[in-house]
Amino acid sequence: MAIVTRVAQRTHSAINPTSVLVLACHFVLLVSSTITPCYGFSGVGEEDEGNRGGELYPEILRDEAVARLQLLGKVSDGDGYLERIFMSPAAVRAGNLIRKWMEDAGLRTWVDCLGNVHGRVEGRNASAEALLIGSHLDTVVDAGIFDGSLGIISVLSALKVLSINGKLGELKRPVEVIAFSDEEGVRFQSTFIGSAAIAGILPISALQLTDKSDVTIQHALKKNSIEVTEEHLLQLKYDPKSVWGYVEIHIEQGPVLEWVGFPLGVVKGIAGQTRLKVTMKGSQGHAGTVPMSMRHDPMAAAAEAIVSLESLCKHPQDFLSFDGQCKSYSFESLSTSLVCTVGEISTWPSASNVIPGQVTFTVDLRAIDDMGREAVVYEFSNQLYQICDRRSVSCTIDRKHDANAVICDSELTSKLKSAAYLGLKRMTGSVQDEVPVLMSGAGHDAMALSHLTKVGMLFVRCRGGISHSPEEHVLDDDVWASGMAILAFIETQL
Ligand code: GLV
Ligand code: MN
Ligand code: MN
Repeated sequence: MAIVTRVAQRTHSAINPTSVLVLACHFVLLVSSTITPCYGFSGVGEEDEGNRGGELYPEILRDEAVARLQLLGKVSDGDGYLERIFMSPAAVRAGNLIRKWMEDAGLRTWVDCLGNVHGRVEGRNASAEALLIGSHLDTVVDAGIFDGSLGIISVLSALKVLSINGKLGELKRPVEVIAFSDEEGVRFQSTFIGSAAIAGILPISALQLTDKSDVTIQHALKKNSIEVTEEHLLQLKYDPKSVWGYVEIHIEQGPVLEWVGFPLGVVKGIAGQTRLKVTMKGSQGHAGTVPMSMRHDPMAAAAEAIVSLESLCKHPQDFLSFDGQCKSYSFESLSTSLVCTVGEISTWPSASNVIPGQVTFTVDLRAIDDMGREAVVYEFSNQLYQICDRRSVSCTIDRKHDANAVICDSELTSKLKSAAYLGLKRMTGSVQDEVPVLMSGAGHDAMALSHLTKVGMLFVRCRGGISHSPEEHVLDDDVWASGMAILAFIETQL
């Protein structure tokens, strides 16, 4: 039997774990103590000086917004579940619907050469730096209806209110809403295709990335009559001088807001992330005839690697060496923010009576600490190569995606915090507790946009912290609260 030799490709450069962890210490100091407890809607009644005319627009900011979320949630490529991946037929239909709602809000609209849908109003000064507000229109497979869509629909509802009140033309700067074509990265494993292009960080080579059916990004666009050349891609990048900032509303996708009993929170920072694709190749054979001691089974190797990854990410301090220069809380902080997931696995030829010839799986690693995350990727790679050596299977690691952690802009965050406070105060007629400040473990288009401009994010409470699941749920009144908050935020631009 041929022995399969290791062909591991180390796709990253060697790093010094000591310097990694010393830097990690400093980063964690920046983001510690981020959650401010608060106590819901209780508070002493007080005249609401911020309520301009007492208008709460529940029919637009709540009822219509919820109806639109439900409608968009039905625009799916899946039968009986929600799935809209980059440039799929449902994604195109969703884009058309969003475009209609943008026009309904009084915006001028267009679709760019990466499938992002834009709606813009120039306000009083078309050449002033624009405020960009957005989120994504794609979804994961078997998704909930709020992830991405809530951010788009809430801001369109708020702009519709301003349009009805004849205020759109009074904005002191252009406001542009962008429904990004890909944040989830389900189809091409490279997240932020749309937002990265606008931020100018999508490499030209990305156009040739392929999906499972070997369709490239460029071809997926062409099938929808969108021609994208290298030149188009370069032109898509926004000039940083033309942009004032980027704001995104998103469901929290975690349990903190529900836990503290508050509908809205602001985001201090977003965890960095790495996506890997691991391919293991062994000796394909007959399940009944090859003795256990003579197998080179990539399935067993993958299983061992996945369990090793779990141990590493549960207890990084047991695996990462450090020389005592880094205080223990940084390890503590890495352990508390570090999450690692194998969400997709495929085998060839995938039959019960065949020892697989090949197994491929994805790894998604996240932490608020970029250097700590890098150290974990490095350690996992070493462990994986050792497993592959021991089992005589070949193994390759492809680094599919990297995004560094992002710290949100303090001025935008404080404006969003005031807007959330004011919006909730208008709704409840009472003084509010301090709006909570959170870290985001989920990735957002704001990460890509942070390469172009300052970014700020507002989170909306969701039931049980559940997301990426059809169980995802946001209360109608919390949809309303998000609309009130973004309305109050945009009113600061009048
Ligand atoms: C997007 O939802 C991500 O964080 O993967
Ligand atoms: Mn999302
Ligand atoms: Mn998502």
